[in-house]
Amino acid sequence: MQILTNLEGPILRLQINRPEKRNALTLDMYEQMTSALQEADRNPTVRVVLIHGHPDCFSSGNDLQDFAHSPPVGEDSPVGRFITAISTARKPLVAAVAGPAVGIGTTMLLHCDFVYAAENTRFQAPFVNLALLPEVGSSLLLPMQIGYLRAAELLMLGEPFSAATALQYGLVTAVAKDGPAALEAAQAVAAQLSAKPPAALLQIKMLLKKPHAEQVAAQVADETRHFAEQVRSPEAAEAFQAFFEKRAPNFTQFA
Ligand code: COA
Repeated sequence: MQILTNLEGPILRLQINRPEKRNALTLDMYEQMTSALQEADRNPTVRVVLIHGHPDCFSSGNDLQDFAHSPPVGEDSPVGRFITAISTARKPLVAAVAGPAVGIGTTMLLHCDFVYAAENTRFQAPFVNLALLPEVGSSLLLPMQIGYLRAAELLMLGEPFSAATALQYGLVTAVAKDGPAALEAAQAVAAQLSAKPPAALLQIKMLLKKPHAEQVAAQVADETRHFAEQVRSPEAAEAFQAFFEKRAPNFTQFA
């Protein structure tokens, strides 16, 4: 199983488990994560969702073979349904990250309520380098959360950044010394949250999210529309081919 789910008392654990491909997310994995998030919202036993990968890798983002061969076509695609599920989740989401947290492995964290990162976490929003566009509402949420210039730097240059930078920018709750320590911190806060009065907790999350909920949904729709065009562009085809040929892409021939 590439997504492992486990209900531990009131905490639903969702583990990304495809280590041989650095936890790259396939269509099937998005479907499973969507089902888990929807089930968490439906099931009153679940008080908190804990999302994590492995001690040395959170996720290398969307599977690039899928981008090349089965690109997402709209909000009703597996990626689209996952984006809706995570961006409208009612229950608190706690994430523990370590190692690569690339693409949606970084941007999905904007929808988490607590994020614990190992010191070795290597965040990256490399969309531009792949001739792609930011998703999951990140083109709205990132500047809102860290300021326009920082967001422009992260999204227009697409360079990796450290856990220390993520902490300084306010993208993570705290930094832990390694992957196991990040998971421990996430488990501890998930346990703390699951002891809170559930109705009050859900309403606090709802109130925190509500002022921007419509804007986020509209931005997600825009991102999805532009992404669907861009992922099929010749420059994106060159970027994917370059990745699998383990060479630098060449964008000089594009207008
Ligand atoms: N999609 C598909 N396969 C991926 C992948 C992805 N996003 N990320 C890694 N893989 C595969 C590699 O092709 C390689 O497969 P192989 O063993 O069959 O050759 C395997 O996973 C291991 O990856 P590798 O690059 O050797 O691991 P690494 O530890 O040296 O580097 C990353 C890890 C995450 C830094 C690097 O794999 C990477 O940059 N991946 C692409 C990230 C990306 O651009 N994601 C899309 C964002 S929109």
